[in-house]
Amino acid sequence: MPIAIDQVESPCYVLDEALLRQNLQLIRSVAESAGVEIIVAFKGFAMWSAFPVVREYVRGATASSPHEARLAFEEMKTLAHTYSPAYVEREFDEICQFSSHITFNSLAQFERFQPLVKKFEQQAGRHISFGLRINPEFAVVATDLYNPCAPGSRLGIAVDHLPKQLPEGIEGLHFHALCESNSFDLENALAEIERKFGHLLPQIQWFNMGGGHLMTRKGYDVAHLIRVLTAFREKWGLKIILEPGSAFAWDTGVLVSQVVDIVENQGIKTAILDVSFTAHMPDCLEMPYKPRIRGAHQEPVANLPTYRIGGNSCLSGDFIGDWSFGAPLKVGDTIVFEDMIHYTMVKTTTFNGVPHPSIAIWRDGQGLQVVRRFTYEDYRNRLS
Ligand SMILES: Cc1ncc(COP(=O)(O)O)c(C=O)c1O
Repeated sequence: MPIAIDQVESPCYVLDEALLRQNLQLIRSVAESAGVEIIVAFKGFAMWSAFPVVREYVRGATASSPHEARLAFEEMKTLAHTYSPAYVEREFDEICQFSSHITFNSLAQFERFQPLVKKFEQQAGRHISFGLRINPEFAVVATDLYNPCAPGSRLGIAVDHLPKQLPEGIEGLHFHALCESNSFDLENALAEIERKFGHLLPQIQWFNMGGGHLMTRKGYDVAHLIRVLTAFREKWGLKIILEPGSAFAWDTGVLVSQVVDIVENQGIKTAILDVSFTAHMPDCLEMPYKPRIRGAHQEPVANLPTYRIGGNSCLSGDFIGDWSFGAPLKVGDTIVFEDMIHYTMVKTTTFNGVPHPSIAIWRDGQGLQVVRRFTYEDYRNRLS
């Protein structure tokens, strides 16, 4: 049963558990067929009330900060594969405590923190595996904000900054060069990596291919992905790890909102909602992209009521246009944004003090469970 929108309060993010399970099934079947490990990237999806479901299919998680690493331990019940562009000393103890793998963004960071990890290993009596992030300088992502291989990128070590022999203690390499990409982009990225970094691959045990593998998007060639991964794994004899975020939560739920007012200026009608693009759907402005609205025409249609949709913050640019609707909008109408689970909750703010949408899960046979409502205290406590 799809989400019964009329049972949902506004504003509210609603995860559809059945759709999440479909993605998880596909991800698990890729991992099993290709003989690789696929772990969830919290930067894209960290709605931990859904982790019990995620854990039925996938066990690992990747973290990019001490808080994400702790979330992996406490809510995913696993030690994290952790990578951060730059670790700081005061948080490093927590990073060690909650990580099984630590990947460094530079040789200087590796040299600086290696002794601290060794100390931790002795005290804790367990090994932490070190990796280095490489930058293959292979760009397929058009938007520079999301392109880890943009010229001059600070993310990962370029081949001309690496020695021919990896430093002692490095057991893995990590790259992240893709974003909402297909398996052919991955295949090309791997060919480039073999060309530039092939001499290093026999020196390691594991190879982390980062995120950006959008295997749950319609039309993704999953069979080709499995072939590419299997061939690479067999050729190099490595343990392969993938850490997508978007692919887990792709198209698994909605943001339900309401029309609060309709204003008109110079012939442009704007429906102002009880949600904000900048605070609650920031990728729409950052990527940028125009989200799908359920039941609306995605592009304006002549002679149909057409609106710009505006957010409830004071930011002038907190709007996107234009959609056409079958009938004129009025105050109180429900507006449902599709595919609003990944990179939303993890990036929201309380800018302007605008109320944060609630978070809910829709479960087949059980209906709606609101797992979190936000209050004035959530806003106040962030500020001092
Ligand atoms: C290092 C790293 N791993 C994994 C991911 C997840 O990528 P995606 O959500 O596009 O799959 C990202 C996203 O920025 C990343 O930077």
